[in-house]
Amino acid sequence: MNALKQWVTNSSEAVNIRLVRAAAGNGDEEEDEDIIEFNPAFTYPIFGEQEQVFGYKDLAVNLEFASGSLASCFSMGYKDKKPDADKIYTKMKDFLPTDIIDNHDLFLQITQRDNREFKPMGNKVAEYRINHEGYEKSVFEFYQAKFDTPRFLEYHRRMQCFAIFFIEGASFIEDTDEKWEVRLLFEKVAENGEQTYNFVGYCNMYPYFYYPDQIRMRISQFLILPPYQQQGHGSRMYQSLYSDFCSRKEIREMTVEDPNEEFNDLRDKNDMRHLTDRGVFKGVQAPIKNDRIEQVAKTYKLTKVRIVISVEEFQTLQLM
Ligand code: ACO
Repeated sequence: MNALKQWVTNSSEAVNIRLVRAAAGNGDEEEDEDIIEFNPAFTYPIFGEQEQVFGYKDLAVNLEFASGSLASCFSMGYKDKKPDADKIYTKMKDFLPTDIIDNHDLFLQITQRDNREFKPMGNKVAEYRINHEGYEKSVFEFYQAKFDTPRFLEYHRRMQCFAIFFIEGASFIEDTDEKWEVRLLFEKVAENGEQTYNFVGYCNMYPYFYYPDQIRMRISQFLILPPYQQQGHGSRMYQSLYSDFCSRKEIREMTVEDPNEEFNDLRDKNDMRHLTDRGVFKGVQAPIKNDRIEQVAKTYKLTKVRIVISVEEFQTLQLM
């Protein structure tokens, strides 16, 4: 049993995701890279429920991405391998960018070029700065894109693997359906007179019909990459979407597909803050009449359940 165990590796621990950024340097290739590494949260869609890879000792699977353009490179290493070991690339292929390469030198050349030249696609809709150590030279920018936006389809085929790696239960969306709307978040770093862009996260959403002539906008996948989590970017993205939805007459309601606990937390806090700022809870006592809930839901484009949750949360906080 033990002899076999040494040939089994946890797939989420074996896969290393690396974001390769431009770093201020002296032209020396080695010094010109800045690498941020982290593991996927989930690999079961690729390697099965147990998230195990069989047949290798000290396995490392490296997925490297240029931090802005997301040009990518696959490589793997191990100390020893059994003849009947799992075929890693064959298992992963359908989940990786279609244009991933395995020539590392070429990847570094592409990355250096892309880090200089890559620009986000779509319409820039907003920007902000954060007060967080290490981000003094950064501006964060939101872009809005659809699959018919120039360069976006190719870009989406690179970035969609992150949904599999970080959103439980995620699958690829239909990229031939031009109704999808995607909000992209980039970090723009200005240094030595040059600007470079790093991919931070995205959210995709789908407009459903709301009888008789409006839209129910449903958020489907919402992701901030691990190095940028817990810094307020998720809240910023949620707020930017919500204020956009509020300004669009055709949108009646905003909903979310299968949210997890972290997302629900983020949503509860932001909805409550938004409603509190607008004085919705002033003098409110539970139970609230249904027609008042309906009216608030309509005004703020949230579902009735969301309003009830926000009121309950507001009252809990008042009692603390
Ligand atoms: N410094 C430290 N902490 C901060 C800062 C800061 N400057 N700013 C905010 N925070 C805290 C917030 O207060 C919050 O903490 P709290 O919940 O204890 O109050 C926490 O950070 C999270 O808030 P944000 O930073 O705004 O959220 P984040 O950017 O980490 O995004 C998300 C949250 C989207 C869940 C992200 O972690 C993620 O992408 N996870 C993986 C994928 C995922 O789970 N996506 C949602 C799936 S559901 C769906 O797709 C519909």
